[in-house]
Amino acid sequence: MSETAKIELDGKVYELPVVVGTENEKAIDISKLRDLSGYVTLDTGYKNTGATKSAITFLDGEEGILHYRGYPIEQLAEKATFLEVAYLLIYGDLPKQSELDAFENSIKKHTLVHEDMKRFFEAYPAKAHPMGVLSSMISSLSTFYPESLDPNRSAEKKNLTVHRLIAKLPTLAAWSYKNSTSHPFMYPRNDYDYVKNFLYMMFAMPTEEYSVDPVIVSALNTLLILHADHEQNCSTSTVRIVGSSNANLYSTVSAGISALWGPLHGGANQEVIEMLEQIAADGGDVDKWVAKAKDKEDPFRLMGFGHRVYKNFDPRATIIKKACDDVLSKLGVNDPLLDIAKKLEKVALEDEYFKARNLYPNVDFYSGIIYKAIGIPTDMFTVMFALGRLPGWIAQWKEMTENKEPIGRPRQIYVGATNRNYVPISER
Ligand code: ACO
Repeated sequence: MSETAKIELDGKVYELPVVVGTENEKAIDISKLRDLSGYVTLDTGYKNTGATKSAITFLDGEEGILHYRGYPIEQLAEKATFLEVAYLLIYGDLPKQSELDAFENSIKKHTLVHEDMKRFFEAYPAKAHPMGVLSSMISSLSTFYPESLDPNRSAEKKNLTVHRLIAKLPTLAAWSYKNSTSHPFMYPRNDYDYVKNFLYMMFAMPTEEYSVDPVIVSALNTLLILHADHEQNCSTSTVRIVGSSNANLYSTVSAGISALWGPLHGGANQEVIEMLEQIAADGGDVDKWVAKAKDKEDPFRLMGFGHRVYKNFDPRATIIKKACDDVLSKLGVNDPLLDIAKKLEKVALEDEYFKARNLYPNVDFYSGIIYKAIGIPTDMFTVMFALGRLPGWIAQWKEMTENKEPIGRPRQIYVGATNRNYVPISER
């Protein structure tokens, strides 16, 4: 007989089903509790609430485990390409060569964006943050492809929207950077692979030959894979909630981009570099900044430290730390910020405050240093995260729509004023 949980409310016992996942994670299914008892559950920030059953990503925050579709992140980061991982996340299995070829070719077909979209860029102020531009541009894609608005379109048409999005996001991301530098936009090169093409659109100039060190392409490939999915985080939950209303995929992913932008989520990678620069400019006294982070009167936090689910170590941070050392040594970059980052990590990891709260470097702690070394400007860091996270958002949206999940609509416990009568303005 399957396990159940008993909950006693107002002297009455309710038996609730226990759901067990394939990695033996357990949950109490409370979906009928309100109907049975009138009670809802309360969990602000969804710290202990499963919003869905998902077969995409497994992570164990206590053990520092991360799997995409069952494959350990360490193996994928070392051996796979980003598009191979995108295919795995979206379609469920690693592609055969013929499947990967077809997937890559389809994406290559759609890398151009409508010429009219180029004009949108002209309207943005020169200092526009590229995440704001990217989120608007991705939402605007829906206006060029109105067939994406139909939630009942065929699987083939849904697939076309998915491929268009994967193909066009790098173009729009790179152009938002070109626009901020007032340099000419570079059209995609379909003879390059996905990662190299993105770097080309970011850094090539029409006046000169383009070449890029393979070390850079490989490091970026790894970084994108590490960011590709992370189950029900803030931006992914946003994607699932927005998508649950049957909003089109472009607007849904645009909402995910906006959620990712926040400094407590994907915006942290930019904040890490800014924090390291601030510490360096202040003389590099790491102890002083660690003390600030511990001071509850001081709003300063060590950016790149702590994670909602990893309470032991972030397996992505371990891979990135190594990639960071490799890239910097192969490129011969000597970045004083890396020294500060390493000192900060050492001091914090030995400090009681951080130990007691299980605060470890997260994926963003070292990714910014790699981005900086390969020439990506600070305000593009979160755009890089969005580029990596895109297949995850798409996979989660696809799973949710295919499972015909209901519209996302949490409950609340109302704590405001109780019923009162309107008072005319002259009497208030
Ligand atoms: N520096 C100093 N103290 C911290 C930090 C930090 N970076 N992170 C958490 N703490 C402290 C809190 O003050 C709190 O202390 P208390 O128990 O004495 O009140 C305790 O650790 C628990 O922190 P919460 O904020 O309750 O943890 P939560 O799980 O809600 O937050 C978060 C996780 C948002 C990631 C947090 O650790 C943080 O703000 N980190 C810095 C921002 C960052 O790096 N974000 C990127 C996350 S990874 C990603 O999105 C890809």
